[in-house]
Amino acid sequence: MDIKLIAPSILSADFSKLGEEIKMVEKAGADIIHIDVMDGRYVPNITMGMPIVKSIRKVTDLPFDAHLMIVEPERYVPEFIDAGCNMISFHMDACIHSHRLVEYIKSRGVKAGVALNPAEPVHLLEEIIHFIDYVLIMSVNPGFGGQKFIPETLNKVVKLKRLMEETGRTDLLIEIDGGINEHTIVEASNVGVNIFVAGSSIFKSENPAETIRRFKQKVLKSAVGV
Ligand code: DX5
Ligand code: ZN
Repeated sequence: MDIKLIAPSILSADFSKLGEEIKMVEKAGADIIHIDVMDGRYVPNITMGMPIVKSIRKVTDLPFDAHLMIVEPERYVPEFIDAGCNMISFHMDACIHSHRLVEYIKSRGVKAGVALNPAEPVHLLEEIIHFIDYVLIMSVNPGFGGQKFIPETLNKVVKLKRLMEETGRTDLLIEIDGGINEHTIVEASNVGVNIFVAGSSIFKSENPAETIRRFKQKVLKSAVGV
């Protein structure tokens, strides 16, 4: 699919003015707001939860993409949906009944995704692929912003594309998350990634709005093969 979307991760935003930061990226052409939820158990870090999602829901109409890096995501998914999330991804090794959770997410009219850590192979998706809306390929180990892109994960995108062909799920969207900058975004786009999560390279840049515009130009160019 030639869909190319930029999803700034607010993990690297200035939390003291989160609303303004979101409005700024929206104005610059961001397509999705990526929300990294960490519980200090699945990953060694704690970030934000439902009250923050609910409060930032008031400042934008952009879709909210919650990336749940938490154990037992099924316990909190209903509340994240109530708070206004439009897409929810979770890690299958943190969840006992992944299929049940995917079906629940979809039954609430929300897009369901599963995330694969760098060490997890694509074949883990073989059965769940029939039910999900998107796959989140982690190109760093989850837990922190600002880490270095792991280039081998691009090969996984290629393998995932193959699995999508084999299973007739070429409509699935592929999201990549971690270490995305102006170079890695092009590499990821070239192998077929659709949604590009970027935290530090956007919010820590001198001119975040300009960075988003540049990222968009780059991926749209690669989409039409220019
Ligand atoms: C990492 C998170 C990412 C993170 C990306 O656990 O899932 O979404 O915010 O940050 P950067 O773009 O700085 O690597
Ligand atoms: Zn994330």
